[in-house]
Amino acid sequence: MIKYRAKIDSLGNYVPKKIVNNFDLEKMVDTSDEWIRVRTGMFERHFADETEAASDLAYKAAENAIYNSNTTRHKDIQMIIVGTISADHPFPSAACILQNKLGLKDIPAFDISAGCTGFIYTIDIAKQYIENGICDTILVVGVEVLTKLINWTDRGTCVLFGDGAGAAIIKRAESNDISQIIGSKITADASEWELLQQKAGGSRLPASHETVDQNLHTVYMEGNKIFKHAVKSMYNVTMDVIKEHNMSLKDIDWIIPHQANMRIIESLADRLKAPKEKVVVTIERFGNTSSSTIPIAMTEAIKANQIKRGDIVLLTAFGAGLTYGSTLIRY
Ligand SMILES: CC(C)(COP(=O)(O)OP(=O)(O)OC[C@H]1O[C@@H](n2cnc3c(N)ncnc32)[C@H](O)[C@@H]1OP(=O)(O)O)[C@@H](O)C(=O)NCCC(=O)NCCS
Repeated sequence: MIKYRAKIDSLGNYVPKKIVNNFDLEKMVDTSDEWIRVRTGMFERHFADETEAASDLAYKAAENAIYNSNTTRHKDIQMIIVGTISADHPFPSAACILQNKLGLKDIPAFDISAGCTGFIYTIDIAKQYIENGICDTILVVGVEVLTKLINWTDRGTCVLFGDGAGAAIIKRAESNDISQIIGSKITADASEWELLQQKAGGSRLPASHETVDQNLHTVYMEGNKIFKHAVKSMYNVTMDVIKEHNMSLKDIDWIIPHQANMRIIESLADRLKAPKEKVVVTIERFGNTSSSTIPIAMTEAIKANQIKRGDIVLLTAFGAGLTYGSTLIRY
């Protein structure tokens, strides 16, 4: 039973200052600007410095989201959910460290591990807590510092990732509110979970000299196999959400897909019959920032005056697990 509706009240993002472009990467690994551009659509990405961890980026994005909200003060936040696979530590959660940085206490704070679908998962969970009346204001964050978990001897993955954070304040919508989270679906198909993983550092293969020597604490990805799943899974889960709410593709004003590869984004847009102008793309500037690509892109589109209140926006992502999900909102 839905007691209330939830909405995205505000968003904020943060990327570290250091920019690494394709020409910089040419000096670091055996690659080329042309290969990266043609195969991925990326040109530059931001790298955290040695002092910055996930909660530092998350904190800045969260402060920006709070600043961008006309109605939310720190003390109003009743829960913090962070989607990340590159938290400051294996434990405690980045969300708990973030709670402390924000000067908050006595509210639940936890991380969600859903790879690049992390932000979509956090919104889905926040939506439930608001719809059933338990909370009315929740901070959700997608944050990643994957450049610190990269295998610099694997040119197929090391050129793809950047660091960043995006945050949103999810609030109870008033009955006369134009904004609303219309629908959401999160799911996973783990039959091929091995395709994308950090092999060591967990209870399966704890850290040892050998795991470090073999680079097993870094991102392992079979990119071309994942590529094949990406479009199909995002398309299917999107159609499920749209149909469940009796809407059609024509109703959607903006699509914000996970920014992993420009070719994936274009194929998805083709299948969704979406003209280029409706698809928000930031991959050239930020690369793949995993769970933070969507809130970073949405914040940028709002700042650029593209997405406006009342627009129908579709968010969709896929990632390690393999997880995938879609959120349909009226902003
Ligand atoms: C990673 C990805 C860009 C690679 O593109 P691809 O077209 O599949 O390329 P392949 O892996 O088949 O490699 C093609 C060739 O390029 C080479 N190559 C790989 N990385 C390279 C690089 N950075 N620079 C230059 N050449 C490179 C390969 O060695 C291979 O050479 P070969 O044909 O001589 O063997 C692409 O598969 C992808 O984006 N996958 C999805 C990634 C993703 O979404 N991850 C999920 C995170 S949520």
